[in-house]
Amino acid sequence: MLPLYGVSALLTIGEVSRRSGVAASALRFYEERSLITSDRAGSGHRRYPRPVLRRIAFIVFAQRIGLTLEEIGAELAKLPPDRAPVRRDWSRLSSRWTVRIDERIAELERLKAGLTECIGCGCLSLERCRLANPDDRAARLGPGPRYWIGDRPVMG
Ligand code: FES
Repeated sequence: MLPLYGVSALLTIGEVSRRSGVAASALRFYEERSLITSDRAGSGHRRYPRPVLRRIAFIVFAQRIGLTLEEIGAELAKLPPDRAPVRRDWSRLSSRWTVRIDERIAELERLKAGLTECIGCGCLSLERCRLANPDDRAARLGPGPRYWIGDRPVMG
């Protein structure tokens, strides 16, 4: 059940789709995953409270920086359940994204650095490939071909 909003504050799925730029099918999917909620009008049609637009913007941005839907759901669950979230609530959530964005930047820089070499190569060698063995993790185990001599790949 949604918190109480005036009737005029409620939006149809078409209006939400137009304003957010997100397809109605994606909105229904978000709703199936409980990332957004609607109320059903007497006709059975979905009606969304206006603050759903911020929630959708959050979902879209979070997906762009690589959060899974489960992670997004966990973040959204931290919002106050009894009132429309305010700017402070949203900025509390997004402040944790900077770490994630830094990780993505580092990953993309690594991909960029290995792009020409690796596309022409294709070996994905754990010993020498920057894509398969970022930051030369195998070297932490010691010198030589660590995985060949029985060491297990380093995770993380
Ligand atoms: S694919 Fe061979 S070095 Fe990256």
